[in-house]
Amino acid sequence: LPVAVLISGGGSNLQALIDARQAGELPVELRAVISNRADAYGLTRAARAGIATRVLSHKAFGSRAEYDRALAALLDELAPGLVVLAGFMRILTPKFVAGFRGRMFNIHPSLLPKYPGLHTHRRALEAGDSEHGATVHFVTEELDGGPPVLQARVPVLPGDDAERLAARVLEQEHRIYPLAVRWLATGRLWLDETGRPVLDGRP
Ligand code: GRF
Repeated sequence: LPVAVLISGGGSNLQALIDARQAGELPVELRAVISNRADAYGLTRAARAGIATRVLSHKAFGSRAEYDRALAALLDELAPGLVVLAGFMRILTPKFVAGFRGRMFNIHPSLLPKYPGLHTHRRALEAGDSEHGATVHFVTEELDGGPPVLQARVPVLPGDDAERLAARVLEQEHRIYPLAVRWLATGRLWLDETGRPVLDGRP
């Protein structure tokens, strides 16, 4: 399954996918890494792994719609079977997302539907939650609102600050993202026509 990975920063989730592939645990072709920022360290990770990289800077476009049209054209050229958003910090237009229904994942550092949006670790701490986590979900028009595919839970521990909690969550992201991509790549997971994820034939 050809996969395109979209990043904006460090690319630790991209690295987890690269490592899973190297370990023979992820039967996909990482066809390209696309970043909206030229300084994303994830581009270095991709280059080291021999993966094609593209930078599509949002600064070069006058509107979100124009950016998304250029991104869609780039992806059409790459023809991925799956688009993986991995630390990609742009909001995609509904028109763009509709073109990848059932073929685009995102990972969000919270137990969705709790804490969509930003600063999820600080919000969990401020709420006094005893647990927190990460969610892999299909991307739909609703920001961080697509149907969850896989979640990981971590305890919130005494003395946690946002950085320590984020690190504990990130560790789990690196475990569940390759797993979710593998499920889709091996046909165990798909989005049915009513928009519900199906795993191993079970809704
Ligand atoms: C992290 O906060 C992660 O929780 C979220 O995006 C951020 C950067 O991830 N998915 P990465 O290291 O660039 O993959």
